[in-house]
Amino acid sequence: MAGPLTGASATEAVVTGPDISGAELTGGRTGWSTTPSDEEGVEEMVLLDGPLGIVSKAMDERDTSLIMPSGTALAATWDPEIITDVGQLIGQQGAERGVSAILGPNLNLPRSPLTGRGFEMFSEDPFLTGVLGAAWVQGVQSQGVGCCAKHVVANDTETERRRMNSRVDPVTLRETYLRPFETAVRTANPWMLMMAYNRVNGMHCSQHSGLIGVLKDDWKYDGVVVSDWYGVDDTVAAANAGLDLEMPGPAQYLGARLADAVAAGEVPERRLRDAVERVTRLADRTGRRTGASVPVPARLRTRREQRDVLGRAAAASFVLLENRDRVLPLYPSRIRTLAVVGPNAAKPCFQGGTFATVRPEGELVTPLDAIRDAFGPDVEVRYESGAALSDALSLTELGSIAPDGTPGALLEILSPATAGGDEVLYSEVRHASSFVWFGPVPGVGANAPGRARITALLRLEAPARWAVGAGGTGISSVTVDGKRVLEVPAPAPDDVMGVVARADTQQVTLDLPAGEVEVVVEMAFQPGRVQAITAVAAPEQLSAPLTDALALAALADAVIVVVGDEQGSSRESADRTTAALDPACDRLVEAVAAVNTETVVVVNASRAVLLPWADNVKALLMSWFPGQEFGHALAAVLTGSIAPSGRLPVSFPARNEDIPGWGHGLDTELTLDYAASEPMGYRHFETSGRSPRYPFGYGLGYTEFRLVDAVLASSMLGLGDNAAEVEGVAVHVTLRNTGTSPGRDVVQLYGKAPGETWFRLMGFTALDVAAGASAEARIAADPLGFRRWDTAKSAWVVPTGEWELRVARNAADEGILCRITL
Ligand code: BGC
Repeated sequence: MAGPLTGASATEAVVTGPDISGAELTGGRTGWSTTPSDEEGVEEMVLLDGPLGIVSKAMDERDTSLIMPSGTALAATWDPEIITDVGQLIGQQGAERGVSAILGPNLNLPRSPLTGRGFEMFSEDPFLTGVLGAAWVQGVQSQGVGCCAKHVVANDTETERRRMNSRVDPVTLRETYLRPFETAVRTANPWMLMMAYNRVNGMHCSQHSGLIGVLKDDWKYDGVVVSDWYGVDDTVAAANAGLDLEMPGPAQYLGARLADAVAAGEVPERRLRDAVERVTRLADRTGRRTGASVPVPARLRTRREQRDVLGRAAAASFVLLENRDRVLPLYPSRIRTLAVVGPNAAKPCFQGGTFATVRPEGELVTPLDAIRDAFGPDVEVRYESGAALSDALSLTELGSIAPDGTPGALLEILSPATAGGDEVLYSEVRHASSFVWFGPVPGVGANAPGRARITALLRLEAPARWAVGAGGTGISSVTVDGKRVLEVPAPAPDDVMGVVARADTQQVTLDLPAGEVEVVVEMAFQPGRVQAITAVAAPEQLSAPLTDALALAALADAVIVVVGDEQGSSRESADRTTAALDPACDRLVEAVAAVNTETVVVVNASRAVLLPWADNVKALLMSWFPGQEFGHALAAVLTGSIAPSGRLPVSFPARNEDIPGWGHGLDTELTLDYAASEPMGYRHFETSGRSPRYPFGYGLGYTEFRLVDAVLASSMLGLGDNAAEVEGVAVHVTLRNTGTSPGRDVVQLYGKAPGETWFRLMGFTALDVAAGASAEARIAADPLGFRRWDTAKSAWVVPTGEWELRVARNAADEGILCRITL
């Protein structure tokens, strides 16, 4: 307590308790912004989802931005410079939209190809993920917009993501799963870090003092540590663990509640001061201090230049896995008829079905259109889909019209049914039939009950069997031509973000007549922080798409088959049960390859997939989710104006059974024991003696390379600041292009400590080499790659003795071995 009054006038403030000023800064204001504080001179800051582009905060199809390559696609470039350029584009788009920080990159590791959000992640390797993630952060932040690297940590399971517990031993946690975040913090310092939903060793990440201690004490991280959305459930635990900001707003656990906890002595004052200081620092960095100037972007690109960057990045991400008889490039002058087959040629997949879904800006050129264009008028290009995938479509994608006759669907917000009547409080015609509102719902406001209704007319040329579906945050129903055909119960409330992100629906199948059919989806909602409604439909396939495609393929000089994922097959809050593609895609490829030997397959999936037919096709190209220049970049690579040079950032298993941890899921306590899948990635193949279908780091081009020589080129060996870094270790490599065209190869350096059984990536470099020429390069070994975590000492140590350094062209390549004694 303060001492007695010493002559101060009664109006002068007397400090009688801890300083709780600025506590409001520790809680969000809205779904996507922080609370301002006049007292601290901090303005509201907008935090918007990435990482594949800037997501509309109103989830509105009219609020668009560029779709960037997914994390896996970026990592397949193995090129920090391209990734920094893409980061700059995102930063520029963020700045143009008044965004203070982007919720990305996702630096989790796809421990298994089954993880539902693997497409956002970079690579199974912690070093590669850290280096490339840091390049992305550098690019974004050079524009004066912050990054929020997410999700700390071991957040690679979407099943029960809010409650599951990742049991990870300290060595694996430090050396593998925390490593990308550490590299990003040390080299690029993202201005925010997001704590994951899951528990780690029994404790929720947002309330995990051990984990937050690693960030703030061990790494000296000076940015804001924020919760994942709705990821806090205890004021004192979160604050004392070191959490600085609770999102989304309005705050439920920090903010005013934190001020109370500090006043009550449950949270030390210095903890609140630390949080306020960090949020204020974010405002300083992003130009949100009252009166401060907005940071000057490092580089602004014109629309044209933006498209160029995206095109370059997309082309650089493609990984050529097979090219038998040099079937690629397919020179237009050498063929007369080309069959393009596969659903993804005409309806490519650009992103996953998460919250972070970007509403695309500008024209999206499909692979089919770009291929037609690139092959020109002298080649007859014909298309058949060959397979129908399972995703139902939005009503507007099906060409619906609103009751007033304009294209789109009518969205109405009505008073709750209990209030009687059908009072329409808000209405507009939209070009979407899936809506999400964080906070206020138009017409009824925030946290209020009501109803949302979508009305659309579909025009059917002939009678057909259709699936029609609905879903949302409340009880929903489908009415077709005035007849109620489906009631869908409200979802369980435990993962509202997952329910909304997945846009889950239930569907009913019914026979519809030819002509105009009215579909009405209505959803009654209770007060809540987020509301959503979705209406979908899909006609049943009556034709025989496979037969039509085979007839086309059999007669063509060559076939390009584009298959892969649909947006709904990579999801937030749900994992996969198999690494396989949709069986219809596999059937299509097998059948086409059987009727035409000149079959080139392009796989549009942003994860490791099973490719059971890879031996039967001439060429095989992984194209991931490469951003919105997909079409043009693909056509350029197929026709040879750009040579593919990407390398796999994840190992491709031959069978599901070869996936690390296959068959091990959550136990009855929702715990996932990482011991069942470690070491994961290429290390799993090395230690288990199994062969991957295609190894990590692998990829072909249009020429051939040979690694001629690799010698140790270490100089000034020395231990770094904390005695756990080894500076100065490098190898000198010579690479020869033995083929007939220029090309680019990625030389990789792997290291193994004395007594260890597996190698780890410790360096890489990309070399552009002219046909027949040789190139030399120095690859520095990652100074942190020599550390090992000593659990007994709770410290990093450098194992001494003889280390093996392997210079290779992929993780399964014997390469050239060098030895060094430390
Ligand atoms: C996701 C985060 C995302 C946040 C805001 C969460 O459900 O896990 O990655 O940034 O929602 O959309």
